[in-house]
Amino acid sequence: MSDLKVMTIFGTRPEAIKMAPLALELSKRPGIDALCCVTAQHREMLDSVLDIFRLKPDYDLNIMEPRQTLSTITSKCLLGMEQVLEEAKPDLVLVHGDTSTTFAGALAAFYHKIPVGHVEAGLRTYDKWSPFPEEMNRKMVGSIADLHFCPTVSNRDNLTRENITNGIFLTGNTVIDALQTTVRKDFSFTERLLDQLEYEKRKVVLVTCHRRENYGQPMEDIMAALAYIARTHPEVSLVYPVHLSPVVQECAHRHLDGVENAHLIPPLNVEEMHNLMARCYMVMTDSGGLQEEAPALGKPVLVLRRETERPEAVKAGTARLAGVDYSRITAMAEELLENPDAYAAMAHAVNPYGDGQACRRIVDAIQWHFGQRKEPPDEFLI
Ligand code: UD1
Ligand code: UDP
Repeated sequence: MSDLKVMTIFGTRPEAIKMAPLALELSKRPGIDALCCVTAQHREMLDSVLDIFRLKPDYDLNIMEPRQTLSTITSKCLLGMEQVLEEAKPDLVLVHGDTSTTFAGALAAFYHKIPVGHVEAGLRTYDKWSPFPEEMNRKMVGSIADLHFCPTVSNRDNLTRENITNGIFLTGNTVIDALQTTVRKDFSFTERLLDQLEYEKRKVVLVTCHRRENYGQPMEDIMAALAYIARTHPEVSLVYPVHLSPVVQECAHRHLDGVENAHLIPPLNVEEMHNLMARCYMVMTDSGGLQEEAPALGKPVLVLRRETERPEAVKAGTARLAGVDYSRITAMAEELLENPDAYAAMAHAVNPYGDGQACRRIVDAIQWHFGQRKEPPDEFLI
């Protein structure tokens, strides 16, 4: 039997963090010829992840433009993928999550009649406009995909409700696999500020914010709330590695420059980010990935969004929906900063998103599906 050609396709920072351990697992497995194609929808933020995981893509479409639109990303990915797929002829393409790269990668594979595996399948808010455009991206990829790798039971239930019942595997989220390789007790930061922060004495609040549906008034409110929290709580060190999007950069700096205990820094590499998260007091974020990582590290998360497709941490009591209104965000942050009981109730480690075995299960599932293995993989059940 000839080797099975499996191509991973990704383009942004979070996809890279969650696909890198899978690409490495694929490349270790006998019987699999692992190929990696990056669209580089992100450039610097993607390259930083590739460096940390020492991953060298076989193809790089290099599509990023400043202030790129959804149409340019999608069309450049689709055109670029045509050549790659015709040359490489993979037996299976793997895409991740819900970005424009994900959608274009799945669509390109479909046009070439190549089976698609969807990693991080089944997340839903059931609001077409939020997260935008991610909710529609993942639904469209769900319709195209042949194999669906669901992190959690509720993700699988979402697919079942849409009458997708074949090719579903319950694997856990690969982000927990990544986290297990990056967090170390003896880690020392290269970013000077992070080395100097007094984690025991001060309350280090880790912030990220970038989502498109938060552009405009919601982001204005979020940044104003952050400035208020920092100004009124001198014991707080607010650390905010700002996404490279010019829209986000402008808004964050306008509100927070000059606030003494608010530190706006460039994006961190993933090792620095995970180790900062492991040491911080709490997290305020609209990021998907941080909502999964912080609970595993026992850190309370205030989610700066109106809804979440990751209800597991909310159910487990480690995350709360703070929304995007100034007064609600400040009230919820103040409660966690001032009320030790409220803090203690949220600060416990839970792992609803995975056990670090997701990549192994996904590759087992692929080999089982293609007849290279007798047994299907075990399931991630909690
Ligand atoms: C994208 C994804 C979003 C994901 C996010 C992770 C889509 C539609 N959105 O949103 O789902 O949550 O990535 O961060 O796929 N930029 C740089 N250098 C970089 C990366 C970005 O300069 O390394 C700047 C560019 O000006 C770029 C802009 O950021 O045009 C926005 O990037 P884009 O990928 O379009 O959107 P994100 O908000 O990052
Ligand atoms: N991250 C990082 N450096 C940063 C900010 C985030 O390495 O400066 C990591 C974070 O730990 C998580 C992922 O990037 O693994 C989340 O990416 P992002 O918030 O951009 O996208 P989302 O998860 O919302 O799609």
